[in-house]
Amino acid sequence: MRRSATITQELLSLQTASATELQQGFEKHLKQTEVHVQRLEEIFQALGESPKGKKCVGMEGLVKEGSEVMEGAFEGAVLDSGLIGAARRVEHYEMAAYGTVCAIAKVLGETKHASLLEQTIDEETETDEKLTELAETINTQAKEESPRKEQGESKPGVKTSKRVA
Ligand SMILES: [Fe+2]
Repeated sequence: MRRSATITQELLSLQTASATELQQGFEKHLKQTEVHVQRLEEIFQALGESPKGKKCVGMEGLVKEGSEVMEGAFEGAVLDSGLIGAARRVEHYEMAAYGTVCAIAKVLGETKHASLLEQTIDEETETDEKLTELAETINTQAKEESPRKEQGESKPGVKTSKRVA
């Protein structure tokens, strides 16, 4: 089931990323996100509630920002660096949201639900850490690909001086 804004974001990132390891990371996390949705559905079903609700405007904004990076005039490692920045924002938003409901589930004595949510939080955290690790190499490559503005050179990586991360 591919309904959430997060999945849309990751699908788009997957298509746009140029570094193979980054593409694979997005692909792996896309599969994990599908399981996150299933866990939420399991919890809602156990509570006798519908998972359909109001739109998350926070996530919608993050997805819009990510889309702007993808639609910008960036390529190669510079684009990947921007994608990592956008993806990390999404992961942190998810970690905060899942962490909040997990804490509430614990207070309510819903240990099984809390455990499911903790698994998701662990995977979101692991993804953020992997993205951070990948950024070390990719940001260095992006620096090499993009000339400093004052040098006025035209090299691959940056077509404009737009903000990417
Ligand atoms: Fe995520």
